Amino acid sequence: MPPIYQTSTYAQTTPGGHQGFEYSRTHNPTRQALEKSLASIEAGAFGFAFGSGLAAMDAVLKLLKPGDEIISTDDLYGGSYRLFTKIFEDFGLKFHFVPMHDVEQIKAKINDKTKLIWVETPTNPMMNIIDIQAVVELVKEKEVLVAVDNTFASSYLQQPLVMGADIVMHSATKYLAGHSDVVLGALVVNDDALAERIGFIQNASGAVCGPMDSFLTLRGIKTLHVRMQRHCENTATIAHFLKDHPSIEKVYWPGFESHPNHRIAKTQMKDYGGMLSFVTKGADYQAAIKIVERLKLFTLAESLGGVESLAGHPASMTHASIPKALREKSGVVDALIRLSVGIEDVRDLITDLEQAID
Ligand SMILES: Cc1ncc(COP(=O)(O)O)c(C=O)c1O
Repeated sequence: MPPIYQTSTYAQTTPGGHQGFEYSRTHNPTRQALEKSLASIEAGAFGFAFGSGLAAMDAVLKLLKPGDEIISTDDLYGGSYRLFTKIFEDFGLKFHFVPMHDVEQIKAKINDKTKLIWVETPTNPMMNIIDIQAVVELVKEKEVLVAVDNTFASSYLQQPLVMGADIVMHSATKYLAGHSDVVLGALVVNDDALAERIGFIQNASGAVCGPMDSFLTLRGIKTLHVRMQRHCENTATIAHFLKDHPSIEKVYWPGFESHPNHRIAKTQMKDYGGMLSFVTKGADYQAAIKIVERLKLFTLAESLGGVESLAGHPASMTHASIPKALREKSGVVDALIRLSVGIEDVRDLITDLEQAID
């Protein structure tokens, strides 16, 4: 096993005479082992590990200059939206948020200033699917980077670099680490010059992760494929259970043939993932709150992607930083519940949902 190098600095025999490691903000052996693993599972050449998913995104945005424009999806993770609009808008970056499952709407926003398209698919929490290859195709002849937040699908279900994206990003806090005990972010790229610039930003801005968290994420990655298989199986069973339940109005899960982007999900993902969202009958807010309060095996908590099942109320939790009107326009209504389905016995999970839903 790679040792946990709980080390900030490294002995030199003469100034500059070292064995590849000088100071741990720049390089650390445990983090380096993780970065190699991240590159490998995304079929990329260069991996970079950060202190959180948002720190990884922050590094991508620092590739840009004032006046540059970014196109992203209108049902983006709330924290990503906050980073874009509350931090980087003040530094002169301009963001456009469009329903990206409709590629024509992306096309309409592209101009000479467009420098980055930020894709999140499946989206959080509406489970929309964005066609990665179609987005790549759209900017093929242009100097526009395509970055994909691969947190929801994980590298097991979807490899954006293989589909032509330039950057893949993870909140490794979620499926990659997988046990709700780490906060960590990742970027993977193929291009040498891009890797050099990201490496520079990683060191210059300094938002790196520590060796213990690198070790835990490495350990999580070893079981990613097995965990994802069970996450997907359990989620499919629960999606069908909720769809047939008389107290549930609508279930958002890309595995349904009736899902508007099912065909794309089927081609770009190996399976449909461990996440789903649903709305109570008549979009009853009180009924939704009652459900999340009554759940026993599903823990009401932020985050996702761990082995234990979680339930969330996006409007007041993960997506509270998005203005209500904008949030509701994309479907994040107050009666929406999001489930991160864990790897427990699915019969126990169904029993829990049965007792929680009237
Ligand atoms: C899709 C997505 N992207 C990015 C993030 C941010 O990652 P982190 O919490 O590790 O900073 C999250 C966190 O919930 C997420 O769900």
